[in-house]
Amino acid sequence: MTLDFSLSSAALDSAETDCLVLGLFQDGSLGAAAHHIDQVSGGAIRRVIASGDASGKPGSHTLLFALPGVRAPRVLLIGLGETAKFNAGGFHRAAHESVRALRNLPIESTLSALTDLDVPGHDLAWRLRSAALAADAQAYRYTATFKPRSEPEPKRLARIAFVAADDAASQRALAQARAIASGVRFARELGNLPPNLCNPAHVAAQAKAIADSHAGVSLQVLEREDMTKLGMGSLLGVAQGSANPPKLIALRWQGGGSAKPFALVGKGITFDSGGLSLKPGAGMEEMKFDMCGAAGVLGAFLAAVELKLPINLVCVVPAVENMPDGNSYRPSDVLTSLSGLTIEVLNTDAEGRLILCDALTWTAQTFDPQVIIDAATLTGACVVALGKHASGLMTQDEELAAQLLDAGTRTHDRAWRLPLWDDYQSQLDSGFADVANIGGKYAGAITAGCFLARFTNGHRWAHLDIAGTAWEEGRKGLATGRPVPLLTQFLIDRCA
Ligand code: BES
Ligand code: MN
Ligand code: ZN
Repeated sequence: MTLDFSLSSAALDSAETDCLVLGLFQDGSLGAAAHHIDQVSGGAIRRVIASGDASGKPGSHTLLFALPGVRAPRVLLIGLGETAKFNAGGFHRAAHESVRALRNLPIESTLSALTDLDVPGHDLAWRLRSAALAADAQAYRYTATFKPRSEPEPKRLARIAFVAADDAASQRALAQARAIASGVRFARELGNLPPNLCNPAHVAAQAKAIADSHAGVSLQVLEREDMTKLGMGSLLGVAQGSANPPKLIALRWQGGGSAKPFALVGKGITFDSGGLSLKPGAGMEEMKFDMCGAAGVLGAFLAAVELKLPINLVCVVPAVENMPDGNSYRPSDVLTSLSGLTIEVLNTDAEGRLILCDALTWTAQTFDPQVIIDAATLTGACVVALGKHASGLMTQDEELAAQLLDAGTRTHDRAWRLPLWDDYQSQLDSGFADVANIGGKYAGAITAGCFLARFTNGHRWAHLDIAGTAWEEGRKGLATGRPVPLLTQFLIDRCA
């Protein structure tokens, strides 16, 4: 369940909420909302600033109790930094910090006045959506596999209201935020689930749950036998070492009459041990997140369907586990892909491209989409290149690149483009097949993209490498739900 988002135009001092959130600039200047509360409370806010207890430094917060003249029992001051430098990034940070500061307090509701601040180049609808998504991301807790506890559940933040007049544009902004937030939550929950539970059959069951709960959505699941008949030798090669049989999952949404569909394809490796090219032990547990591309495209599909977008959309997920076994595929095996191209396997750990190539060919053949976008935790090299902040975008289509980059910027789910020049293609030359599945030590993210490009001929296509962005590193690292916001925004924009 996402947070409940609403609009509030009540006077701030008399608003009924567990906590008011107000912004504070570093030079001590107050936004309109903070100024109002300062006035009704007899200068309480200015006094905390004068005492040095609240600074306005970006990322700082100060919690005040029981201000005179204010009905809400708590007021949270959020530092916004310097007035002249306040921008979209600062707004995001403040929105995240405000809920991070509140999420462990025994409160159920909050009213944020951050949406009342000016952010250059961004309107109220953007501020509402951004603040709502930031709040929901911070309020999320992973609970799926925790033991039931005997103590009563503590109070949890469940509702957030934003200062804004209740009009059609603001309501639309919150509706989009609700849809994207449920897509993000879906992707995070599926990503976080351990791989003994989240196997290919579970991913297929999740897709079925989406189809069953939404009118107008249909589901098709191809089993191993179906894929064998079709000739998906590449995907099946990866799958053959696992006791968990592969599934090729396709969801369809028909909201756009006879128009060609948009297609989203997501890498669904439910666990990537590396196969016989086994990964080192340290950090291998993070490879439960290797299905985050699948989770991301399913989440974006869910968001698009909840918004009933007037487009046709297909979401295709090859769900496979990559395991070492007596029956595993080997380095030097030659696989015949659905496209007919033969592939020399030089490393069984470069498995994502091997399941995606067949999924891309099948998607193109089956649905003839107007655009195909894939999302995949494809390469460690992409994390080396771009770190944990930007997803890698690769496409030969200039217009599609611009649209995706823009969607990422506006949702703060940003991507950065890497070249897909043909110059890199020769790194994939093989003496034993049409193409090798690895491209040597240079430009690993790009050669992975180049490999996929060979299976998308004739279709407008873009590839998002989300290896760095799909989850937070470390013991307590959680799936982020990226790139659900970017993808959903891209689809919303195609409806305008
Ligand atoms: N799922 C991994 C990519 C990955 C690694 C994502 C680390 C996030 C963090 C992928 O299947 C993989 O193993 N890629 C190899 C490719 C190599 C063998 C050419 C890699 O990146 O090392
Ligand atoms: Mn791998
Ligand atoms: Zn992988």
